[in-house]
Amino acid sequence: MTEIFEAIKRSAVKINEAIMYDDTGYSKECNSTGDTQLKLDIKSDIFIENEFKKITSIKEIVSEEKENKTSLHAKGEYLIGYDPLDGSSLLDVDQSVGSIFGIYKHNYSGKNLLASAYVVYGPRVELVIATDKVRMYRLNRKDEFYFYKEIKLNQKGKLNAPGSTQMCWSVHHRKMIDDIFKDGYRLRYSGGMVLDLHHILLKGGGLFSYPGTSDLPKGKLRLVFEVFPFAFIFEKAGGRSIDGKNRILDLTPSHPHDTSPCFFGSNSEIDRVLKTYE
Ligand code: F6P
Ligand code: MG
Repeated sequence: MTEIFEAIKRSAVKINEAIMYDDTGYSKECNSTGDTQLKLDIKSDIFIENEFKKITSIKEIVSEEKENKTSLHAKGEYLIGYDPLDGSSLLDVDQSVGSIFGIYKHNYSGKNLLASAYVVYGPRVELVIATDKVRMYRLNRKDEFYFYKEIKLNQKGKLNAPGSTQMCWSVHHRKMIDDIFKDGYRLRYSGGMVLDLHHILLKGGGLFSYPGTSDLPKGKLRLVFEVFPFAFIFEKAGGRSIDGKNRILDLTPSHPHDTSPCFFGSNSEIDRVLKTYE
């Protein structure tokens, strides 16, 4: 799997350079979910695909930017689901964006996720890889990622990142979020999943929620490219991830673009969500 992580590092360096200097405008294309694609969404996807094509252990890939899976090497054993440029609508306001990767075997179900990784393109470029542990790396001047530290969550955090449109929240969800703020939690929400979850992971805990809502009963975030990879990272860091009732990594999507309500946090906050949603 090391060669996959090396491919992710090479693509991250290229994506970062494109973010720094290329046009942040829209293309004329739409992705399978109907979002108008930025030129950088398309470019990032191509950088990643070109790196993965070189790795013979990769059997197949599926990108958030494409409707269908792409076969790579018939004898390969790994399947990779990835979001090339998460939060890309924040690029025009110069906020951090990211790339997310889930490395699977056999199929794209939570229980077959073997490892995951994400990259944050912020004031610095940081890479987080979760296998047995969650390890964070930083990019140096020579375009090399060096190990920085291991990430571990506390039992309870201080941050609250409540996603989606508030007017579409259920009554019980709204009450839970209000109660969390009444307990002294601070609001931290950028609108970019990678940055918001990175923030909670590095500050030791808290809650990120993207519930099912009246407009999007199954939430917005996609299991294969976004939710499973972070669920794996949160569990390996000592936290948890649920859809309200079930453990996220016990879910099996029927389509690579399926979405799910999701909650990521340290243990104390997830207990609170379970009590609310039981
Ligand atoms: O990929 C979708 C995304 O941009 C995530 O990065 C982010 O967490 C979410 O959408 C924000 O959605 P909303 O603006 O509805 O809270
Ligand atoms: Mg995304």
